[in-house]
Amino acid sequence: MAKKRVVSGMRPTGPLHLGNLHGALANWKEMQDTYDCFFFIADWHALTSDYEDPSRVLEYNRQMMIDWLAVGLSPEKSTLFVQSHIKEHAELYLLLGMLTPVPWLERNPTYKDQVVQLAEKDLSTYGFLGYPVLQAADIIMYKAHGVPVGIDQVPHVEITREIARRFNYFYGSVFPEPQAILTPTPKILGLDNRKMSKSYQNAIFLSDSPDDLAKKVSTMVTDPQRQRKSDPGDPTICNVFSFHKMYSEQSVVESISAECKSAQIGCVQCKKLMAKNLADFLAPVYEKRLYFEQHPTDVTAAIEHGDTKARAVAAQTLEEVRKAMKIA
Ligand code: TRP
Ligand code: SF4
Repeated sequence: MAKKRVVSGMRPTGPLHLGNLHGALANWKEMQDTYDCFFFIADWHALTSDYEDPSRVLEYNRQMMIDWLAVGLSPEKSTLFVQSHIKEHAELYLLLGMLTPVPWLERNPTYKDQVVQLAEKDLSTYGFLGYPVLQAADIIMYKAHGVPVGIDQVPHVEITREIARRFNYFYGSVFPEPQAILTPTPKILGLDNRKMSKSYQNAIFLSDSPDDLAKKVSTMVTDPQRQRKSDPGDPTICNVFSFHKMYSEQSVVESISAECKSAQIGCVQCKKLMAKNLADFLAPVYEKRLYFEQHPTDVTAAIEHGDTKARAVAAQTLEEVRKAMKIA
């Protein structure tokens, strides 16, 4: 039986961190064997909010592909590509814009939320309002059945379904209505105990060297009640301990817990141990990153391979679309 197709994208707004790794990337990696996966770098979507200074997007595109390859996304198993390299996304976006009612976009809860949250940016643009139309084009272009995303993206998938339905109603049944596949995302806190996010400057990046890791871990917030080593600590409220649970062996986790509560281990030592285990966990990713940094033609080849596969499907879809609409 043919594998079901899924499509998902990530905006290249900066380096990927542990939250991305244990969320979307782990999920995508696992899907590679069971689904026909189309994963792309949504660089045009990055421009919707970063239009004032888009100069870093090119570099972020490359870095994102390096991160993807380093964590084990495979250009052979999946179709890994860059949105802006497939011009059909722009054409389909334009055509879908003709039939998308503006109130659908104005009602979009993610839209309203972002305009408030990113108050420092002027998001009263046509492009930002049209964000979900471009996302709909990304998804239905490949006639995806599923869209693996976090909960914040569910409204966008819902708008995609509505746009697909409206297209089919006017011009005949061309597009399946895609389903969101909710990605389970463990909540990873950053160095300061807020949600890990590059905009909070509290993130640990896949590209951090073991030295960076040690430095960052040493600044992590611990049990705030624990002022001195002689004070007993509470590991259950300490993010360093949460990291131990992810990166240290069970026996270490148990002894840390006991020794923290009985004030036998100090936070400095506890952090050093965790940083070491985190570095060990990230070592294969870090090494692969170094390899790709040193072999840029491999990265370019991976992107071109994915672009070619995506472009073939996209060209086919656009032919169908133009025919259905009787404009070609
Ligand atoms: N909006 C998504 C995000 O910010 C990125 C994205 C763009 C996307 N196009 C997509 C996700 C298509 C899934 C499918 O995370
Ligand atoms: Fe957290 Fe470790 Fe310090 Fe306990 S000893 S408070 S677990 S850093």
